[in-house]
Order: sequence, then structure tokens, then C-alpha cells
Amino acid sequence: MLLRRTTKTNMSKQEQYESLLPQVVALVQDEGDLVANMANVAAVLHEAFGFWWTGFYLVKLAQSHQHEVTNTKSPTRSHQLVLGPFQGPIACTRIPYGKGVCGTAWQRGETVIVPDVHQFPGHIACSSLSQSEIVVPVFRGNEVIAVLDIDSKELATFDETDRYYLEKIAACLA
Ligand code: SME
Repeated sequence: MLLRRTTKTNMSKQEQYESLLPQVVALVQDEGDLVANMANVAAVLHEAFGFWWTGFYLVKLAQSHQHEVTNTKSPTRSHQLVLGPFQGPIACTRIPYGKGVCGTAWQRGETVIVPDVHQFPGHIACSSLSQSEIVVPVFRGNEVIAVLDIDSKELATFDETDRYYLEKIAACLA
């Protein structure tokens, strides 16, 4: 499939997302593998917008609790976010529940927009160049199964337009 490249156009952010959304739907609708779909979604967003880091963390059993029988519907200390498909520089591999921007979005079950990461208590700095960030939960039913995390090298990159479209894109993965 040929994806239309939208970087360096005069399109507004909304127009870029409107153009991308059907492409994302087409990419994931016939593929049932979550990780494969996350990989392509990360690539599409990263290429289109030129973000600094674009990727997913998946809710998984923590390493030291792998043999426990747990209820994934009640995230506890036995679960963590574990690095999934991404584009950009290397990143931290595990994030506890409620920690950093990612763990906070998981805990709240809602999108978190951070205009200046240096002002966010507990922000986990995977890259010192990251200045602003948005984290969007990926739901399966009522359960958060992953988060989509995007970092920018500029302050205040993300707003309600990003929230609106990235939540739609995250919903394509459910
Ligand atoms: N900054 C994130 C950690 C992940 S990296 O940005 C890729 C956080 O505070 O949760």
C-alpha cells in the first residue's frame, strides 16, 4: 500500500490527521496482530508528523510476577508497561503503574497532554531532548491494554486536535 506522505505540506494538523485516518483504518482492518498493527501505526504517525519519538507501551505482567495468576482487569503492582513497537531513539523498557506520563495515562484511563515535560512531576526522561508529550490509552473494552506515547522536541506541540485524532487512531487497534 502506498501511504501518502504529508510531511512538509501546507496542510493544517487537522487536515493531516483527516488524510491519515483512512490510511490507518486500511492498514489495520484486515490484520489481527496487535503488535504488527502498532508497528505500522507508529511508523505512519512518525513519518507524517516528524515527531521525536512515537511508540507504544503494552500492559504486561511484571517480570518478577510472571508465574502469578493475576486479573488483568485490576492493574496492580504485578503489571507494568513494557516497551512495544516504536520509531525514534532507544527508550526505557518498563514503566510502573501510575509512574511518568505513560503510567499516569494508564492509571487515569485517559489521555494526558504535557506541554512542558519539565513541569510534569515524575516525568520519565528517556531522552533529554524531549520537551512535550502526549500519551493516549489503548482500550480493549474498559481495560487499558497499552498506551500510545508521542514525544516532541518542541514545547507545547500537542493539543485537543491531537487528542481527538490520536484517540480515534488508538480505537482502531482495539
Ligand atoms: N516520558 C515517558 C516515558 C517514555 S519515553 O518518553 C519514550 C513518561 O514519562 O512516561
